[in-house]
Amino acid sequence: MEYINNELVFGPYKKPLLPLCANYARPIYVYDLQFLEQRYQKMSEALKGVRLFYAMKANSHPQVLQKLKSMGAGADVVSLGEIKRALESGFGPEDIVYSGVGKTRFEIEEALRLGIYQINVESLPELERIGEMAAAKSMKASIALRLNPDIDIKTHPYIATGLKDNKFGMELSLIPALIACLQKYKSSLELVGVSLHLGSQMLEFAGYQEALLRLKNVYRDLQAQFPSLQRFDFGGGLGIFYDRQDLALEESLLQEYAQITLSTLTDLNASLQSEPGRWLMGHCGVLISQVQYIKKTSQKTFAIIDAGMNHLIRPSLYEAHHEIIPLVKKSGAMVCDIVGPICESSDFFAKDRSITGVAEGDFVAVMDSGAYGYSMASQYNLQDLPLEICI
Ligand SMILES: Cc1ncc(COP(=O)(O)O)c(C=O)c1O
Repeated sequence: MEYINNELVFGPYKKPLLPLCANYARPIYVYDLQFLEQRYQKMSEALKGVRLFYAMKANSHPQVLQKLKSMGAGADVVSLGEIKRALESGFGPEDIVYSGVGKTRFEIEEALRLGIYQINVESLPELERIGEMAAAKSMKASIALRLNPDIDIKTHPYIATGLKDNKFGMELSLIPALIACLQKYKSSLELVGVSLHLGSQMLEFAGYQEALLRLKNVYRDLQAQFPSLQRFDFGGGLGIFYDRQDLALEESLLQEYAQITLSTLTDLNASLQSEPGRWLMGHCGVLISQVQYIKKTSQKTFAIIDAGMNHLIRPSLYEAHHEIIPLVKKSGAMVCDIVGPICESSDFFAKDRSITGVAEGDFVAVMDSGAYGYSMASQYNLQDLPLEICI
């Protein structure tokens, strides 16, 4: 965290934040698109030859999407709403991978009509449904099978997706039934890919490598029967540090992740695809909020800010850590709970956190809020949604 003339500056390009609060009316998400450009370049250099489909659930601001599209990214989507936003932001159907466990008939209809590049299928009944719907239209849908290898990547249980008790993907034991279904609908389903996504905020890779090895064998077996199978989509999930600013160490993790991925998959001769979200956008956004009250009880001191769990739900939902830094550096420190205005005791950003002197009216930045921030925001308690500014 760096201050210049006692004012907090954000990101590697040291962008000042305080001027953005001149006409402050409500919490503001600030996204640094130059920082995003740097992150994208680093990831695409490390994962050379891999096509990156940005997981737009992380942050679907149109300017974020336009920036990534201009740099060559595709989009990973999970709803018709995301498909529409991707198309409005300049992506074509040929740039879109469509995942998600609950695709409705209406959504599939639209995906088929648009000719989406790849539909990641998450269950046998979904495969049946797409086969039947594409047949009725005399079309051929490009399908990837999202497989669930039952692997623990040691992340928060709410963001683990590759275990057999998760709703995501399909167990490997289902493969004979999937093959039968693909054969039944051979005129309307084209198997083009195998995909996996083990979960999010992955910071160690032993389980991930094991999953790649398992699916590599499956890919080979399937390809022997379906020569149209050419793509291996290894999902997203690479984590970032929320508790410290150590971009250098994060980059070495990226190198390790890339090395494991590329060396494990190299002899497959497949087109490799990835679906990163958090790693690209997480650090590139902050949430600015204003302190409303310092409230002292017999037990605690609370700094009550005007942002709440409805603006950034990660601390409440995952007990996630975010650094919280005053925009203007002052002396003194206090230990407090930093909480929002929402009528829930789970509406907190930090507990027993030591923070340098903040008082009523001061601004704070909730750091590393660029991913899964605004995109998960709601209007609970009829609070306004936060503003978003791209710099
Ligand atoms: C199918 C799929 N792909 C990619 C991602 C992106 O994950 P991350 O933001 O951790 O890179 C997610 C998010 O959980 C996902 O569900």
